[in-house]
Formats: sequence, C-alpha cells, structure tokens
Amino acid sequence: MAIDPENLFNNKAKILVVDDNQQNVDLLEAYLLSVGYDVIAAMNGMDALQLVTTHDIDLIILDIMMPGMDGYEVCTRLKDDENTRLIPVIMLTALNALDDKIKGIECGADDFLNKPVNRVELLARVRSLVNSKKLNESLISARNVIFTLSLAVEAHVPFARGHSERVSIYCEKLATKLGYDKKFSESLKEAAILHDLGKIGIARTILHKPETLTDDEFKEIKKHPAIGEKICEPLKFADIKLPAIRHHHEHYDGSGYPDGLKGSDIPISARMMSITDAFDAMISDRPYRKAMSVDDAINVLEKEAGTQWDIDLVKIFIEIVKNDFAIK
Ligand SMILES: [Fe+2]
Repeated sequence: MAIDPENLFNNKAKILVVDDNQQNVDLLEAYLLSVGYDVIAAMNGMDALQLVTTHDIDLIILDIMMPGMDGYEVCTRLKDDENTRLIPVIMLTALNALDDKIKGIECGADDFLNKPVNRVELLARVRSLVNSKKLNESLISARNVIFTLSLAVEAHVPFARGHSERVSIYCEKLATKLGYDKKFSESLKEAAILHDLGKIGIARTILHKPETLTDDEFKEIKKHPAIGEKICEPLKFADIKLPAIRHHHEHYDGSGYPDGLKGSDIPISARMMSITDAFDAMISDRPYRKAMSVDDAINVLEKEAGTQWDIDLVKIFIEIVKNDFAIK
C-alpha cells in the first residue's frame, strides 16, 4: 500500500465546478473525486454565487460560456466581494484563446485550464491553488491572533487600556497630514496596535511596579521592541510595521533603544510612532505618576524636539493636536 500525496494534503478541500454542460461537470467531478476532493456543482452563474454563500468553498472551476450570466461576470462578482475574493478561480478556456485569458485576468481569475481538460494538469493546478489558499488562511488567522493578543497584553498593563488604539488614531492623522497614501497610513495604524506587543515578554512585576524602575528593570523593559518584532516576524509583513515596532523608542540624537539609531536613520514610521506614543503616555495616568495636561505635554514635545524627536514631525503633530483634538 502507498500513500497518495493528493489525498494526504488536499482531501478535505471543497471544489465548486460551474459549467452548464453536464458531461463536463461529470468529467471534472470524476477527476476531482478520484483524489478525494469534496465536489459540488452549479449549472449556471447565479446558482454558483448562491452556493458560495452557503458552502465553505476552497476553489472554483468556472466555465466561461454559460447562458444568463457568463463566467467573466461570475468571476468579477466573486472578486469584488470581500467574503469571496480569496477563493481561487480557475477558468476553463478554449485552447490558445488568448482573448479569453486576457479578459479572465482582468476579471481576477487566478489560473486557466484549456478544454478538453487534462487530468494531470487539472490536479496539479488545483493542488497548487488550494495549498496557497490554505497558507493564506493560516497567515490571516495568525495575524488576527497577534492583533487580539496585543490588545489583551495591553489590557493587563496598568493604565495602558486603549493606549495603542489612541496612538493609531494619532498616527493616521499624522500620516494623512504628511501626504502619505492610505496603504502607508493603514500599516502605521496596525503597527500602532502592535507596538508594545513585546511587553508580553516582560515580567509583570516590572510592568506593574509603581515606583521608579531600577537600571536592571529598565534594561528588561528596553527589550520589548525587539521582542515585539520577533513575535510578528513569522507573519512576513512586507511593509513598515516591523521597523515601526522595533524602533519606536529610538531617539533623534541616537540615545534611544534598541539600536541607538540617529536622525533620518530612524525609519520615518518609527519617528512618527515615537511622538504619538509619548504624547498619549504623557496625557494618561501611569502607575508612577498622574497624567499631564495637554499643554504641558506639548511643552515637553517642543523642548525635546531635536533631541528625542524629529523637529519637523513634532511641529506638524502639535498643529494636529491643537486643531483636531484639543477642546476649544
Ligand atoms: Fe513601547
């Protein structure tokens, strides 16, 4: 007896076959069932769109020419819908039908199969797309866990509740004011939620200590940006989040941590986060002190601009606080 790798990895995946030709459906179904996939079929576009709302579909094989709604329209609707856009779609096209493929790509199709369908090619493409979908799903759920964890960590740090969400709002305002696009600003907001996640690795006795920390305790606290970066690394964020998390305690004059970066060597995302993080901390109660007034916090930002923080960014942030957040 031997292990069939198709069965080993994919036998739980559910495939939706959409074709108005019963013979084609039967053939595809037979190929897919032979390696253990779970298969359901729709004979037209409307039924297919209905089935994706009631079944957990892992991949769709979609014919183009169907009465009523054609495959392009079905694919466009699937890819426009937040709930279904991550389901891979393989379109069935006639051999060498370049126009069909171009149109299919424009509609968001993930791959193509020529008719008549070759069993080996079909199974190879299905396996590859199902595996990528599963990988994406595990990354998405890992990502959700990390964000939830970050808020849970914050809820257990005295006086920190709501801090990262407020920092994310300040960061978004600052990014918009500086002319950054939505992608940057969304990433910075997410980084703000995650910036102190590394505190999960710091002893509660230190985080909860109401008195001034000893040098050794402060050394421990200084580890949290690198710990946060390490926790997030497996998620492979390909944007500004990791540098923002790692460097949010660097100082403009190089006296910060963990790397002692200076001036413009500190990533802009971290320079922005450093100001917004410190501002929110100053105007909030802490175990060892009462909250400062907004005016006093602005004075500190101005005084330390150029030493702890980027002068230009401080100026812009103070404008935002005065115009958008201060009680008039
Ligand atoms: Fe921090």
